[in-house]
Amino acid sequence: MALSISFLMILSLFASASLCFSQKSNGGYLYPQFYDLSCPKAQEIVKSVVAQAVAKETRMAASLLRLHFHDCFVKGCDGSLLLDSIGTIISEKTSNPNRNSTRGFEVIDEIKSALEKECPETVSCADILALAARDSTVLTGGPTWEVPLGRRDSRGASVSGSNHNIPAPNNTFRTILTKFKLQGLHIVDLVALSGSHTIGNSRCTSFRQRLYNQTGNAQPDYSLDQSYASQLRTGCPRSGGDQNLFFLDYVSPTKFDNYYFKNLLAYTGLLSSDEVLFTKNKESMELVKQYAENNELFFEQFAKSMIKMGSISPLTGSRGEIRKNCRMINSH
Ligand code: HEM
Repeated sequence: MALSISFLMILSLFASASLCFSQKSNGGYLYPQFYDLSCPKAQEIVKSVVAQAVAKETRMAASLLRLHFHDCFVKGCDGSLLLDSIGTIISEKTSNPNRNSTRGFEVIDEIKSALEKECPETVSCADILALAARDSTVLTGGPTWEVPLGRRDSRGASVSGSNHNIPAPNNTFRTILTKFKLQGLHIVDLVALSGSHTIGNSRCTSFRQRLYNQTGNAQPDYSLDQSYASQLRTGCPRSGGDQNLFFLDYVSPTKFDNYYFKNLLAYTGLLSSDEVLFTKNKESMELVKQYAENNELFFEQFAKSMIKMGSISPLTGSRGEIRKNCRMINSH
């Protein structure tokens, strides 16, 4: 009898340990009420600064959403992207995916200084990015979700991590999927999260190679609608105009909806990395079709995948720190 009771106790210990482990691997250390006691107004403050910034310039919603992605894919969601080059730190802002491209850092600064006034050294820069991404999605008409919180900030940055982990627009489908899998994300996350390209802009330099062949002449790219391609060529010449901007979703560029997927079906996706989701893999093609048909399904999966992406290797407990200024680590 005593033996079977202790056996049962050991079994239940194992069960709770494995539950603990599975919560941990899902970012279970994070929870939405994290600041409820320490900074009850935190979420309200983030939302109000984001709302003001987006009211001033709609594109800012897209730029802020992207910052969370570029943060999470490099050493986890730890605010490493926000560090400037100071001392031994080389900023991730200098990496290929970020240089002349990521923006919105001043808005993050503004949120941080408002939060420092309300509750000093309490809310992390990494959490600010996660909240700003959610608020930006909602403000442009997308789904909402409760953001798990409690991330802490890194004391370092990784330019090489940024160059290697963040997919490039000319990567193959396989490479892009591998880069997502390395972060613990799956094909559904890849397709749903790519739906972020329903808002925001891209520079000519990010998709030019789809418009011209190696000799520089217009070429028929059969995964790109030809009249759309010729329109793009007028603003994105074979040389020059690298920084010229184009909508990622030309139908409803400032509205968070499923036109991104509808465009892919019509071969009017802008980036090669967008179009390959529809043309290079059966499973992702099915998902693109489903999201193009069913906006609710897209919204539901998007929210789930954002929570998953936001849970990539957070620093919790006593690891990392709460930066006073998102651009620099705290001094000793
Ligand atoms: C699947 C792989 C992805 C690739 C290859 C990719 C690539 C790109 C590129 C090249 C741009 C334009 C940058 C420029 O020319 O300056 C862009 C913009 C953008 N990306 Fe992605 N992206 C990917 C996934 C994601 C994900 C997962 C998110 C968010 C969760 C996201 C959010 C955005 C947003 C919102 C913009 C517009 C930013 C703005 O207007 O400032 N992307 N992306």
